[in-house]
Amino acid sequence: MERRSFLKTIGTGIAGIGAGSSIYPSLKTEKSNLVHQGAITTRDTDISYYHSAVDQPLKIILATDTHLWRNDERGDPYRQYSDRMAAAYNQTRHFQTGELTNPEECLENTIRIAVEKDADLIALPGDLFSWPSEAAIEWALEKLEAVDIPYIYTSGNHDWHYEGMEGAIEELRETWINKRLLPFYHGNDPMMAAYDLKGIRIVTIDDSTYQISDDQLAFFRDQVKSGMPLILMMHIPLYAPGRPVGFGCGHPDWGAATDRIYELERRPRWPVDGHSRTTFNFYREVFNAPNLLGIFAGHIHRPSMEYVNGIPQFVADDNASGAYLNISLMPLADRDSDLMRI
Ligand SMILES: [Fe+2]
Repeated sequence: MERRSFLKTIGTGIAGIGAGSSIYPSLKTEKSNLVHQGAITTRDTDISYYHSAVDQPLKIILATDTHLWRNDERGDPYRQYSDRMAAAYNQTRHFQTGELTNPEECLENTIRIAVEKDADLIALPGDLFSWPSEAAIEWALEKLEAVDIPYIYTSGNHDWHYEGMEGAIEELRETWINKRLLPFYHGNDPMMAAYDLKGIRIVTIDDSTYQISDDQLAFFRDQVKSGMPLILMMHIPLYAPGRPVGFGCGHPDWGAATDRIYELERRPRWPVDGHSRTTFNFYREVFNAPNLLGIFAGHIHRPSMEYVNGIPQFVADDNASGAYLNISLMPLADRDSDLMRI
């Protein structure tokens, strides 16, 4: 349990663990001149960074949108709010083999893969659950705690959502995260946290309402100022030109007019005026962050890669069908560095 207890000691406080090394000290005021030296290669589920900002190998297995749906009698009073999602992912088809499977089998397989690959971290950026079912939460915690690999989590729009329950979306998120999901955060702030592992800072921001708060923007700004190489993990991917409103964080068309499923999901309609100014500011600052190595998200249930201002965003296929990402960050070899330099 050594590695996991290590992770539990870090988080929003970030005290001292690897926080001393500033990779881009001179670039904080020269953002436009930043050149990330290195390469990113992808094949199937593998995403490999070979990067000058990486000191030592870091291996992350990422699973998003597992949509676990186990339920028991504790869920009976809530069935009117969970019935639709309870039937949504009972049986799935494996993303590679096409064979019938289910979310529990898929998450167990993914955890097994993380163990086999000796991963440093399991990253879970949201929709681990189809609703905040106590039975499903207990099951997932048991599976994750059974292996000696730290995990980090940020919520997705379904994790805390009971369809049709009255209330403002931000309040419902806060209520159900606090009532049910807190164990996944290792004592850190569910809305924003930073985890340092092997010289890389992994930043989680909860954008599961599609919007960013002032506190989250300020927090992200602090992480950029740290100068450490950053990986950003969020549930809902950021907008990129040509992408639909599902890429909804910072999407200029996001708003009431483009919200086609609010009645189906029985939730408040997206705001008439679209995103807040803070959300757009967050968008700009993310894609101008000189030390951001990449963004990892889910929500779309379809794999994609966007490249905005030279910063890659990877959207993972859904773990409900067994998909995952095998992310490796590796130092850039001297010979490659020589090859890439003028
Ligand atoms: Fe999802």
